[in-house]
Amino acid sequence: MQKLEELYSGKAKSIFKTDDADLFVMEFRDDTSAFDGVKKAKLSRKGEVNNKFNAFIMSKLAEAGVPVHFVRLLSERESLVKRLQMIPVECVVRNVAAGSLCRRLGIREGMELTPPTYELFLKNDELHDPMINEHHARAFGWATDEQLEEMKAQTFKVNEILKSLFDAAGMTLVDYKLEFGLVDGKVTLGDEFSPDGCRIWDKATGEKMDKDRFRQDLGDVIEYYEEVGRRLGVQF
Ligand code: TMP
Ligand code: ASP
Repeated sequence: MQKLEELYSGKAKSIFKTDDADLFVMEFRDDTSAFDGVKKAKLSRKGEVNNKFNAFIMSKLAEAGVPVHFVRLLSERESLVKRLQMIPVECVVRNVAAGSLCRRLGIREGMELTPPTYELFLKNDELHDPMINEHHARAFGWATDEQLEEMKAQTFKVNEILKSLFDAAGMTLVDYKLEFGLVDGKVTLGDEFSPDGCRIWDKATGEKMDKDRFRQDLGDVIEYYEEVGRRLGVQF
């Protein structure tokens, strides 16, 4: 497999073509952003930490039967992934209230959500990832009924797998965002799963261990990402 030219550069990752039209190289950079790209920084070692973290989680999800685009680790910062036709809709599950849910609905941070909530957002930084519903996704052709059903089912399946994984390691999976795409028409989990796209709190102390450390200037961002990984069994 040969890495070819860069196809796309996002806020934290870059995608490269390969000599196989069905496979891309996903490179995790040290760039970090928050608030739809408004706050930016380079955090040393973030690329390799998130690459290994993502590989660990995606492998667990694949073992449990979730279709994922992750194929294998290639290097410290690179993973091989299947080429997806991305669906521009972000799927968010919340087990505990935090972030935009608290701001929008005046809910106290930390309230347990039973059952968990499920929300869709349009992936569009310029519009600040507005919340949408399934009717918008259908009306504007972003996803079909069947794809939306499959995205929801997979997103909740991920919750069942990861909630207990984090819990057993002394952490609460507060919320997370997933992105899906299509491989030969099949809804497949894409993007990444890392502390950049979820909230994780220490069960004992309530301490924040995810990107809120960057958003809220709490410090030691990557040290906490690594601590989350170490507790789960990620080999850094
Ligand atoms: P929110 O509280 O800002 O709506 O985010 C909920 C969770 O989803 C949180 O863990 C962050 C993640 N998320 C992203 O990583 N990127 C996004 O664009 C959105 C909308 C959410
Ligand atoms: N990942 C998004 C951004 O860059 C949203 C966030 O994490 O706050 O800006």
